[in-house]
Amino acid sequence: MKQQEQLLTIKRFVRHLFQDDITGHDYYHMKRVAHLAKLIAEKEHADRFICETAAWLHDVVDEKLFTNPTEIKKELERLLISIDLSKQEIAQIKLAITDISFRKGKVPKSLEGKIVQDADQLDAIGAIGIARAFAYGAAKGRHFYHEQFNNHTIKHFYDKLLLIKDTLHTKTAQHFAKERHQMMEQFLEQFYKEWNDGETTLARKDVEHHY
Ligand code: ADP
Ligand code: NI
Repeated sequence: MKQQEQLLTIKRFVRHLFQDDITGHDYYHMKRVAHLAKLIAEKEHADRFICETAAWLHDVVDEKLFTNPTEIKKELERLLISIDLSKQEIAQIKLAITDISFRKGKVPKSLEGKIVQDADQLDAIGAIGIARAFAYGAAKGRHFYHEQFNNHTIKHFYDKLLLIKDTLHTKTAQHFAKERHQMMEQFLEQFYKEWNDGETTLARKDVEHHY
């Protein structure tokens, strides 16, 4: 089987698996991460095919996204074997999708793994990152912002999103992150301005002092 056909089968598997997701982990998240991973791999001289394939599959092993994670892992195993990937390719793909979750705070061992993690993190910041955060918050029934409670989506920016630019492994991802980070800073500035009837800097301090 040619690489294009292998990728096509993988995309079909992913489309089917994530078709109902509304928490920001849908098919299009995988598509954007795969595209970013391919771009970063080219610039960082890593294995493009492994990065792209692993990026398409990176959330298949995320246990929080499925009610039956063991069954899903078996399905993934069957898929990888059925598309004629070599043992070595399968091992590289699996290695690249282990330890990529930011939440668990682990660093992937291979360059390809680091690239997939970087691509995943880039998709959590910028305009898309903002949209995903509010989609995730709403799906979990959270307020987008609240003056008394602390588990709102704006807080997630301080807990995770604004820290991402300093956790990226590759120079290429760090470069891509700059514009996206600025976008979030601008968004927060404008958010506080509107929340506080036009008061800017002071208003932001007022909101931030809660954390
Ligand atoms: P990872 O894929 O690194 O394990 P998550 O699955 O926790 O990270 O996050 C994936 C997406 O969901 C990101 O866009 C992230 O911002 C969003 N997200 C995760 N937790 C929250 C939260 N508490 N509030 C808002 N968005 C969240
Ligand atoms: Ni992801």
